[in-house]
Amino acid sequence: MRSYTLIAPAKINLHLEIISDRPDGYHELVMILQSIDLADEIYLQASDTETIRIRCDHPEVPLDKSNLAYKAAELMAVEFPQAFAKYGGVNITINKRIPVAAGLAGGSTNAAAVLVGIDLLWNLGLTQSELEELGAQLGSDVPFCVAGGTAIATGRGEQLAPLPSLDNIYIVLGKYRSLAVSTAWAYKTYRQEFGDSYLRDTDSLSARAAAIHSGPIVKAILHKDAREIAQKLHNDLERVVLPAYPQVLQLRQTFASAGVLGTMMSGSGPSVFAICESLQQAEQVQLRVREILPDEDLELFVTRMTSHGIQVASSV
Ligand code: C5P
Repeated sequence: MRSYTLIAPAKINLHLEIISDRPDGYHELVMILQSIDLADEIYLQASDTETIRIRCDHPEVPLDKSNLAYKAAELMAVEFPQAFAKYGGVNITINKRIPVAAGLAGGSTNAAAVLVGIDLLWNLGLTQSELEELGAQLGSDVPFCVAGGTAIATGRGEQLAPLPSLDNIYIVLGKYRSLAVSTAWAYKTYRQEFGDSYLRDTDSLSARAAAIHSGPIVKAILHKDAREIAQKLHNDLERVVLPAYPQVLQLRQTFASAGVLGTMMSGSGPSVFAICESLQQAEQVQLRVREILPDEDLELFVTRMTSHGIQVASSV
């Protein structure tokens, strides 16, 4: 049976701005998304039955149809019924390293890997933009996870404009294992509290979305200036998540006090990342934060920005 092992990187948000709500119930966003080299490993194997099966030893990852990786395989079976009939089902093994429900697109990147892997397994020859379109049917972050690197994302988050990649900028990432934030809750609460300030007319909406291209954080990215990028981090969802989760606020403050270049919550949280000057500084910050917050529930990772989306590690 043919098989593929894929590397599925997490993402962080260097910028997340909520500009409006949308008729489909989602929010109109302006984001800058960045892949990091903290990644899950996805093993895909063709099965001689017509079933889709998920294996994962992480207790919080569902093994049923609610798993986005399952939905990705199901979508491929529906979109390409002849290939499904010819090649059969697929066994998906997820080696989870990315914290779950953390604002790091862990589920989305697994789904992106399944799309890329099944395309290979079934010899479909899909283009990257076809894979991204399929991904958009599964979740707002899935198209970015297929492409990876650094990108401006607008609309629901699925419309991507790539930026030059940022490699070798080091990051410390923190997440309390027992804390999980529902993305739907974060956006709903934001709407309740700040919906009055949403832009309503289409001209203002397009102007706001266009402004990011010439804004200071994009300039900093074009100059690959880690210090400047770190100064310009922004996330509107901090306004609802930090007051509701004091531990997340405390973690963010602890990073700031450890002398990092800049710190911010990622996505809807509760993970918090800090941009550092070097690998050495990142390792020192990790030790320092561990000293100040000696809580075993707190996971800390040293990682770095990467230009990679989903990658094939091996095939048999
Ligand atoms: O697209 P995804 O399934 O990742 O989104 C999870 C939830 O986050 C959505 O159900 C929605 O409540 C909220 N969301 C939103 N606007 C977006 C993206 C997500 O309101 N652009």
